[in-house]
Formats: sequence, structure tokens, C-alpha cells
Amino acid sequence: MNKLEQPRALQFEEAEDEPTNSSGNPTFGDVVAERLSRRDLMRGALATTAVACAVSPAAMLAACSEDTSSTPKFNFSEVTAGSNERHYVADGYKADVLIRWGDKVVADAPEFNVEKQTAQAQEKQFGYNNDFVGFIPLGGSSDHGLLVVNHEYTNEELMFPGIDPEASKKKRFAEMTRERVDVEMMAHGGSVIEGKKVDGKWGIVADSVYARRITAATPMEITGPARGHDKMKTSYDREGVKVLGMLNNCAGATTPWGTWLTCEENFNGYFWNKKAAKKSAQAAALKRYGAPAERYNWGEYHDRFDVGVEPNEINRFGWVVEIDPLDPNSTPKKRTALGRFKHEGAGNIVNRDGRFVVYQGDDQRFDYVHRFVTKGKVDEARREGNKDLLDEGTLYVARFNADGSGVWLPLVFGEGPLTEASGFSDQGDVLINVRMAADLVGATKMDRPEDIDVNPKTGKVYCMLTSNKDRGELAVDAANPRPLNTFGHIIEMTPDGGDHAAPTFRWEILVKCGDPAIAEVGATFNPATSASGWFANPDNCVVDAEGRLWVATDGNTAGKTGRADGLWGLETEGQERGTGRLFFRCPVGAEMCGPCATPDLRTFFVAVQHPGQSSDDTVSTYDSPSTRWPDFQWKMPPRPAVVAITRNGGGKIGV
Ligand code: FEO
Ligand code: CA
Ligand code: CA
Repeated sequence: MNKLEQPRALQFEEAEDEPTNSSGNPTFGDVVAERLSRRDLMRGALATTAVACAVSPAAMLAACSEDTSSTPKFNFSEVTAGSNERHYVADGYKADVLIRWGDKVVADAPEFNVEKQTAQAQEKQFGYNNDFVGFIPLGGSSDHGLLVVNHEYTNEELMFPGIDPEASKKKRFAEMTRERVDVEMMAHGGSVIEGKKVDGKWGIVADSVYARRITAATPMEITGPARGHDKMKTSYDREGVKVLGMLNNCAGATTPWGTWLTCEENFNGYFWNKKAAKKSAQAAALKRYGAPAERYNWGEYHDRFDVGVEPNEINRFGWVVEIDPLDPNSTPKKRTALGRFKHEGAGNIVNRDGRFVVYQGDDQRFDYVHRFVTKGKVDEARREGNKDLLDEGTLYVARFNADGSGVWLPLVFGEGPLTEASGFSDQGDVLINVRMAADLVGATKMDRPEDIDVNPKTGKVYCMLTSNKDRGELAVDAANPRPLNTFGHIIEMTPDGGDHAAPTFRWEILVKCGDPAIAEVGATFNPATSASGWFANPDNCVVDAEGRLWVATDGNTAGKTGRADGLWGLETEGQERGTGRLFFRCPVGAEMCGPCATPDLRTFFVAVQHPGQSSDDTVSTYDSPSTRWPDFQWKMPPRPAVVAITRNGGGKIGV
């Protein structure tokens, strides 16, 4: 398939891979190259160790971590890597489908009828393409709580009959009628469901008072420094304070005060009218965000997605949204202090001084790693005390230095180059156009930063860098030996002095991904890793309460890596460091999202996103899908679903 003929969903996924950063900042590869060339100039054991840790093979990496024990943190018998129409979980565990696209969420939702789906029904049913999953315990229980789930995007060719993914965009858009577009809009956003484990099996509490659907039309409030900014005003919101819906919510997080942070990623794909964009007063800003990408034809039926009609509507997307799932009537809030970009997740920690710190990836080739530090402290006594904590604070962007150190560069109007002379009018403007601000301060261009999470035990921070097909020969070096970084890598960051608000940190590469058996790939998994234990394209991740890193992948296929996507445990300490183990394997075409552990670690919720989606080697449609997971019923297309994994007979997962 050439690019134009790819299914819309695949094109959309590739939007994450279209570089729009033309600034002159060094790439991460340049940094490592510089780091190597300076090797002989460096003095002191610490500096030597830092270089060794950044560039050495896995066996050497073990020596760099403080823990030299050889006790693996993961203990389960591995799934065999491969790809077919089904899912697999490690022996001794069961994986039960909890909720699927179209299942009832709110009390009066109609039964799912895939052949006669309507926007009115979809608005009350579980949405499409579940990504982030969070668990908010009720009454401190690990067996009863709220599940908050993102619905990132829609695969029209799998949701509706008669859409030829290989047809031209014009032809496909012609098949996407207003009625179908309105179903899509209702299938985006998120769901709040109440889950309960009874006799060892998870189910949904019917008629829960918490049950809620958030869609692309749910009223939301704009808060923080960009609230009321001129660039946020539209014809139907002249104050610039409210917006309808959230789009392309990818990963996310929960907060210690029990709210849900849900992160808007490829918002550019929903906007329309490239011709008007070229003449727009915001043409440069639109270009820097790859907008409008016209991946969907919503603008044909809804003027607000047409940048020629509502030029500022697009500025109201690309934010982190905070939702209080404990109050089903609460208004979701777009927290502009955290910046506007293609957010992946919002991995967070309460710093030792009480401030709240959020790590964020901007998922595009050559874009950046960010950190947000609140001004105020987390109020542990009063939940209400954290109501607007995320509206004030400082956003930073990372520079990875050649010597293994790193610097957090503040994105503050009036500081450094972020002045009127460089085109910024105020802090709201800096936050609306974070990418352009980050270009000016000299941030390091990365290989598509996806999810980031913090190890609650060690304070180390793990950043998934999923791939970069455009690194090029000039950036090849010992740490990034692949001119095509097809398989991605993972970086470990350690805040200086254990302070997540510190201006500096140290970094090293935990693992370069891909098949270690193929020398040219240059993968650095620990040699103890089995043939099933390696992976490519790390995407979502979580560090659980035991300090174990779980990596969910997006991009493995039978043709590319001989395996479907899945969930791997990855050792980070001692002699086991860099050893992967496959715990859950997705059905063909799906990417792995979540995962989410209950506090007692006895349940893992994972999200199987876009099962049956076409890949480079398979064309898959509603009429002829590559799998009918999870129902396997004639005429039922594949359905994205959340799966609850528990251990037979109870017990902690993977221990
Ligand atoms: Fe939606 Fe960057 O994955
Ligand atoms: Ca993701
Ligand atoms: Ca993804």
C-alpha cells in the first residue's frame, strides 16, 4: 500500500510520525554523537560511568545500576511471541473481557446494534479504541472502583460496512456521511465505569451513579493561563473559556487526589481546510502542529472543525484534561498550564517538597520531553484543596547533554528568548504554541516521546521513545546505531538529588529495542532475554507499586517483528536489567494500551486497541476483518475492549 492508499486509521497513526520540527536544535542522536566524541575529554569516575551507561551493551548496563542482585522482579512463565486472531496471557492467569465497544455505559443505553449504530446510542455506550485505563478505588478497595478509559480515535473501515481502505481519501470521505461522522464523534472521548470483583471475576456495576460518557461534544472549561486568551476565542465562545469535547485522548494518568488526567494527542487530524490554513494569520503555528491534517471529514459537517470558518477552534485542543470521576456532574477542565502539544501521557509523582510533578511526551518525530511542576503543594488532607492545583506552575522542556546530564529549560514568557521580540505576547501564547517556544530555548529533539512514568520506589523516570525513521546517517553513533530507528528505545532519567523539581537530571539508555538476534538491529536487551522477551516500539508504560516497569507496545506486526503487540515486563535493576518477558499478547492488528494495576496488584486492566486494524502486510475491513476478536461471531467486526487479568486462585500479578 502506498501512503495515500493506506486506511485512514493507519494514516492517522502515521501523523505522529510526520516531522514538523524544522528548528535547528540538535537531535538526540547528535547529542549522543557529541557525547562520544568528548569521551576522552571527560574526567572523573562519575563522568566515565555516565558514558559507559549510556552507550554500553546490556551486560554493562547492569553494572551501572545501584542494585547488583540477580533476583528477577518478574516471575511468570512467558507467553510465546507470535501473531494470530486471538489474545494470550501467561500460564496461570486469566484474561476476561470486561467491556467492549458498544457495551452499555450509562443506565439507559440501548443494546449495541452494529448494523444500525446511531450517534444517540453511541453517546451512551462504550466508545471506540480504548487507550489509557485508570483505576480509582472506592472506599480504598482494590476489588471495587471506577475505571476511567480514554477513547482515542475511530477506525471507520472497521466500524462501518463498505469502506474500502485502499480507496482515495475523497472516495472514503464520501462514504462517511454526516450520520456516520456523528457516531464517530460520540465514539471519541472517554468512559467512566464502575467495576467490581465478585467471586474472583470482574464485572460492571449496572446503573452506577458514576457511569458517564465524555465525547467530542461534552462541554468543558478552559482553565489556567490560556483561559480567555484572544487566540482561544471563537464565534460561539467569545470569552475563550469553554469548549465542546476532547479529541484523540491517548494515554493519561490518575492523580493522588483521585482525578483523571486524559491527554489530547493528534488533534490536528480532525481539522479541515488546508487552503484557508495557508492564508491564516496563524499559518506558521498551524504548520508547526501539522494542522489541519484532514484525516477525518468532520469539518464537512461541523463548521468548528473548518479552520477557515473558526480559526481559533483548533487552539482549544491539544491539552491535558482533568476530570473528576467521583462527581458525574463535574465539568472537565482543560488545564492549559501544562501546555499544548500532542500529549501522550501524564506520568506523575508528588515531589518530596509536596509539589506535584507531571512528566509529558510530545509524540512526534523530533519533538520534546516536558515536565510540569505545580506552584502549590498537594493537599493530602483535603481533596478539595487540589481542585485547581494544576492551573499554576512551570512547564519545562528537556535538554539532554552530551555528558549524561540533562537540563530542564523553563518555558516562561519574558525569560530568555520567549519575549515579544520573538513573537510571543504573554504566557498564554507560550502555552498555546509550546512547540515554537521549546524550539527557541534549545530543547533536544527526540525519537517520538510516548508515555513516561516514574518509579515510586527509586524516583527514576522512564521515557518510551517509539521510533524515528528519519534519524539519518549523520546521527548514527554507538548509542543510536540505526539510521532508521525502526524499533525505538527507552531512556531512564534520574532527577538530581532525588528532587523532581530540580533544574537538572542524569540520563542513560535502558534498552534499544528490536530483535537482539539480528546484529544490524543493534538491540541491547539483556542476553538473558528469551526469543519472546524482546519487543519493538514501546508506547504506553507503567511502573507498578513494586517498582516494576511494564511496557505496552504499538507497531509490532508479523511482517516486521514476527509478533503482535503486547505487554512486556522489563527488568530495570541489577544483573537482570534490560531483560524483557512477554506477559500478554494482543490479537492481530491491535496495539496494547493501559496497563493499569489495582493497588493490591491482584488485577491488571489492559486495553486492546484497534484489533484487526490493517498493517503494512494485511488489509482488514468491517466486511473482511483479520480477526473478529473478542466475540468471534459472524458479522460482528472486531471490537476494542478492556480486559481484566487476574491470577488463577488469586495472588499478585507476576510475582
Ligand atoms: Fe496515541 Fe502516541 O500514541
Ligand atoms: Ca500511546
Ligand atoms: Ca499508539
